[in-house]
Amino acid sequence: MLSWDEFDKEDGAEAAAASKHNPQVADLSLDKLDQAGDAAAHEARAVAADDSAAVARAKAALDQLDIQEGLDELEGSAARVQVDQKRMINARADLNQLVPFKYDWAWQKYLDGCANHWMPQEVNMNADIALWKSADGLTEDERRIVMRNLGFFSTADSLVANNLALAVYRLITNPECRQYILRQAFEEAIHTHAYQYCIESLGMDEGEIFNMYHEIPSVAKKASWGLKYTRAISDPQFNTGTVETDKELLRNLIAYYCVLEGIFFYCGFTQILSMGRRNKMTGVAEQFQYILRDESMHLNFGIDVINQIKIENPHLWDAQMKDEATQMILQGTQLEIEYARDTMPRGVLGMNAAMMEDYLKFIANRRLTQIGLKEEYPGTTNPFPWMSEIMDLKKEKNFFETRVIEYQTGGALSWD
Ligand SMILES: [Fe+2]
Ligand SMILES: [Fe+2]
Repeated sequence: MLSWDEFDKEDGAEAAAASKHNPQVADLSLDKLDQAGDAAAHEARAVAADDSAAVARAKAALDQLDIQEGLDELEGSAARVQVDQKRMINARADLNQLVPFKYDWAWQKYLDGCANHWMPQEVNMNADIALWKSADGLTEDERRIVMRNLGFFSTADSLVANNLALAVYRLITNPECRQYILRQAFEEAIHTHAYQYCIESLGMDEGEIFNMYHEIPSVAKKASWGLKYTRAISDPQFNTGTVETDKELLRNLIAYYCVLEGIFFYCGFTQILSMGRRNKMTGVAEQFQYILRDESMHLNFGIDVINQIKIENPHLWDAQMKDEATQMILQGTQLEIEYARDTMPRGVLGMNAAMMEDYLKFIANRRLTQIGLKEEYPGTTNPFPWMSEIMDLKKEKNFFETRVIEYQTGGALSWD
């Protein structure tokens, strides 16, 4: 356990020793203190008699350091940041100055994401292992659902993480949004970890599951549809700043946030959570429940980013772009309907492909209206209202009433 008292004591002792070394520093004004600090730093650079050749070389190399050259390479201007200079894309303000905040919602989502932290190993998988290994524990249809969904999700979250880290992060020019994107990228790593943990616990053939996005057409089509929208913007030479390149980024955000995370995850989530509601594969279902809660925050963040880009760049949101966005969401819905048919050739777990189709159309209407487009499946209702209840559950009111871990109060550190 760490205790700050010990740090205080040590700091105090060091400071006393330092003033003894240089007694005149103790009563200097602030200006003079700056000069004294500068001189002391300079003195530290001088090669001392007991320095090894390697230490002397390191000090000499720093004499050649051009500070201005390094700072010039930073993104954005060198001035103190004013809030009205901050923009979602193509901003020129310094991106390393987190405050003043412009988009409070982005910072709040970062805080909420941290407060909801969880890890896959916390979930007890014993009941799942027994059920999976027993000869008559699950029907063939139920086993198919578990396999297909672990197959799809085990690689889908990597695709999302890659898109964030290798493409989106660089192009979103706002530090509070970048802070959330970093949190989201870590959550995607936790999700991939969760799928790996399920696959390992259940003793599945790892190669078969992780390679499913190459081998099973209904899984491959979804992965390949998403990848198409990463290709252009993950090129290191790609930059925003023209109408066409800004639109390319917008297309990517719609593809990933509205379609991949907003539609492609929903058939699988519903199937696995329905299994948990029937007291089957409760560990896998609990993992999916936490993932779904993270994903609904990712989706809401993405929607806010897309809408903010539209507000700041209304010329991008023309008739052609609206049509393209609508088409993307409709194509995604169609692929997810095909995935529902492939994973549920007949009724299972109190649901069937036709009910899932209604649910996906209901979700598609939500995605369309969330970014200001009109519904394309008017009159569709939600056959699975319990899904929205699960999404809103707080971790401490665990749906499956297993155990509770509070991250908000901190883990290994003691502050007294
Ligand atoms: Fe994820
Ligand atoms: Fe996500």
